[in-house]
Amino acid sequence: MTNPPAQAIEVTVPGTDDRRYQVIVARGALAELGERTVAAAPAHKYALIADSRVAELHAEQALSSLAEAGCDAQLLVFPAGEWNKSRAAWGVLSDELLECGFGRDAAVVALGGGVAGDLSGFVASTFMRGVPFVVVPSSLLAMVDASIGGKTGLDTDRAKNAVGTFHHPRLVLIDPELLATLPKPHLRAGLAEAIKTAAIRDADLFAWIEANAADLAGGDLETLAELISACAAIKAAVVSADPAEEGLRQILNFGHTAGHALEALAGLALLHGEAVAAGMRLEARIGEAIGVTEAGTSIRLDEALEACGVPNLLDGSVRADRLLEAAATDKKNRGGLPHWVLLRRIGEVATDDAGSYSTAIEDDRVLEHLEAALRTAADDADSRP
Ligand SMILES: NC(=O)c1ccc[n+]([C@@H]2O[C@H](COP(=O)([O-])OP(=O)(O)OC[C@H]3O[C@@H](n4cnc5c(N)ncnc54)[C@H](O)[C@@H]3O)[C@@H](O)[C@H]2O)c1
Ligand SMILES: [Zn+2]
Repeated sequence: MTNPPAQAIEVTVPGTDDRRYQVIVARGALAELGERTVAAAPAHKYALIADSRVAELHAEQALSSLAEAGCDAQLLVFPAGEWNKSRAAWGVLSDELLECGFGRDAAVVALGGGVAGDLSGFVASTFMRGVPFVVVPSSLLAMVDASIGGKTGLDTDRAKNAVGTFHHPRLVLIDPELLATLPKPHLRAGLAEAIKTAAIRDADLFAWIEANAADLAGGDLETLAELISACAAIKAAVVSADPAEEGLRQILNFGHTAGHALEALAGLALLHGEAVAAGMRLEARIGEAIGVTEAGTSIRLDEALEACGVPNLLDGSVRADRLLEAAATDKKNRGGLPHWVLLRRIGEVATDDAGSYSTAIEDDRVLEHLEAALRTAADDADSRP
């Protein structure tokens, strides 16, 4: 079988005019990992860091590609699961690098979902004050979102992603074939983040997702590859345009103010994409209620999420005051008040009078609209066949 040519998307490293890295999207690209890694991140020794589940499924192919290209590579494995995006796992991996004789001339290759990417990126950014880093995302969420943009980090008991750095990869290598082994709930959680990407930036892509929802939810790799290319290009353009994360990059947080609050209330029981899906449903309703978001947007989002098999978590059991309190705590941990990213319509985020992509809404006003949103998001789901 011959695969179509690789699509290469360029990302400009924020704060630089000339440092760029490529995001390669191509079925079968894992076979080219060694060759492309040597070119993008030359090093004497490579640490391939993967979580236990992904290591079992895909590390052998990654290692053999690295070996074929003449790389001295060693596999380091950490246990799969969000709770291992921790200081403890960072400590173990850093110690292992030292014990195995890695030094300043090493590079890290992350293989896995967003957890492996964030954790390995943080290891790479702190080891010897920073060694080069290549990412091979294996979950849909990591392919469309987490692997691009250079954010690395860890969770602490108090807050997710509370400790971290910006450490930009030298290369992001996306092989949609890896999704063949991804459990369906994770595939669908990734589709929620792809729907977000289209909703904030590209109405045509949103319509394409609506038209191809069955193939996407069913895991058709060719359709998924097209989706990944489109979403990765949007994420790359947004992060390239906003070095200081003060402007355009905020649009990526649509669905995330309420989504993060739901995650905080549920502990680690929810998948991130599922929480973001619920957050989008709520934030679209709040936007419609205050007259910022075009009427009908929330229903269209509901239907697209449903068509992609993303479960609706909003069953009427979540309380608006507790959700708002969790959103405020999340923001306080990050030094601010909750801000809301609202759509103007599908494909476009609203700006406020000052041109900002996020809006502070007084708590009592949000509370009232959030209560209504929680009710209708649950009712609308019940009333559909
Ligand atoms: N850095 C960023 O900009 C950014 C953006 C969004 C999310 N994130 C982070 O990403 C994380 C969530 O990512 P995730 O959903 O990929 O979680 P994850 O890395 O835990 O992966 C989900 C599960 O799927 C398994 N898996 C991954 N790829 C697989 C494959 N191909 N086959 C079989 N199993 C596979 C993993 O072992 C894991 O059990 C969160 O920690 C979140 O904070 C980071
Ligand atoms: Zn997200």
